[in-house]
Amino acid sequence: MNNKKISIPRGTADILGVEALRWSFVEQKAYEILQNYNYKEIRTPMFEDVDLFARSMGKTSDVVQKQMLTLERNTREGESGESKNTFALRPEGTASAVRSYIENSIDRKEPLTKLFYIGAMFRGERPQKGRLRQFNQIGVEAIGPNSQNAYLDAEVISLSMNLLKNFGVKDAVLKINSLGSSEDKENFANALREQLKKKQSCLCKNCQQRFDRNIFRVLDCKNKDCKKEVEALKIKGDYLSEESQKYYKDVKKALGEIGVEYQEACDLVRGLDYYTGIVFEITSKSLGSQDALGAGGRYNGLVEQLGGSKGVDAVGFSLGVERILLALQGEPQEGVGADVCLVALDENAFEKAFGILNDLRVSGIKSDIVYRTSSVKAQMRAANKTGAKYVLILGQDEMNKGIITLKNMEIGEQEEIELEKVVEFISSIL
Ligand code: HAM
Repeated sequence: MNNKKISIPRGTADILGVEALRWSFVEQKAYEILQNYNYKEIRTPMFEDVDLFARSMGKTSDVVQKQMLTLERNTREGESGESKNTFALRPEGTASAVRSYIENSIDRKEPLTKLFYIGAMFRGERPQKGRLRQFNQIGVEAIGPNSQNAYLDAEVISLSMNLLKNFGVKDAVLKINSLGSSEDKENFANALREQLKKKQSCLCKNCQQRFDRNIFRVLDCKNKDCKKEVEALKIKGDYLSEESQKYYKDVKKALGEIGVEYQEACDLVRGLDYYTGIVFEITSKSLGSQDALGAGGRYNGLVEQLGGSKGVDAVGFSLGVERILLALQGEPQEGVGADVCLVALDENAFEKAFGILNDLRVSGIKSDIVYRTSSVKAQMRAANKTGAKYVLILGQDEMNKGIITLKNMEIGEQEEIELEKVVEFISSIL
């Protein structure tokens, strides 16, 4: 019998204990805020036709070229008209949201569709801190015929920052740029090629290959020689048409009106092909080399490109949950654990405490009880592990006096509360 232990695949993680509580705190906060902004949830399959990603993110993007996790199926080639390797685990959510939007003819049903998703994505990358093969995104896509509006861009950008703020991330920096229309983008690419032509031989091998196919990738390259050449470039927004410049200005004005701080970054181009217009990225210094907490932008051509109607505009972003939690490490985490934990010192007291626990829960107070009636010390330790701010201790003495002892776990002080008024009292102090 082979009883060798089997390990978790590289670049994936088990989420356990307090870590799982931190996850659900972020997810629940996200649901609350996304619904406040009137975005509706969409759930799409974990895998899709591989072409969906090649045609949206771009054949020359790193994700499609190097990171796609394709599925080999057991069905024989040709069976049910499908060839082998036609599926890939989704590396992102935008393409799936757009596929679903087209497939369900949503453009005919509503003028603007505001979608959000929270879920796992898969990329076959070399794992490192903040870079996984299975990671999770909180994403937003606002899609609708002729829906381009600078205020909508501002809504989407400010929503991404507002989510981070509500999770407790303190050092998020927002960088924005405009790639303009597809014509402007082409002008930008040509200007870059022109400027880098003489330096082509100084670039890394990858970038030399990217030179004709996807010059923008050179701007993201981590190779130090490429970085040096990029720093020496004089990138200005002068490739933008007058119309695109005005639009960019309107977005910045709208952001200013709602107090969103940003930095302009002329070299911000993003690694995926579908972007046109506004692009943005949010970084945090605390993350190290994988410093992007999230990113997004406008992608007006994608619906048509994937077989949908013409003239459907879209804008969105995704935040990486693992990176958010990394940025929050060391921060006191709101909403983790119970608010109150009960400790009963004998069986008689347990019976009464169990009733109080139910009353607390019915009143909406996050509460728990220590199930084993071992020593008081061991029970207090167990209560502390629940993360409770307050511990309610009930023994025969307390029952005789009609009180319960309340211990504040943060400051260590104890007081007595009337048994009959315990729910009322706890509600008033939380
Ligand atoms: P992205 O820049 O590829 O954009 O990913 C967005 C975020 O997902 C990143 O900023 C990062 O926080 C997280 N992320 C990406 N790859 C990994 C990884 N291997 N490990 C951990 N976290 C990762 C998109 O995916 C676009 N779909 C965003 C978008 C939505 N644009 C418009 N709508």
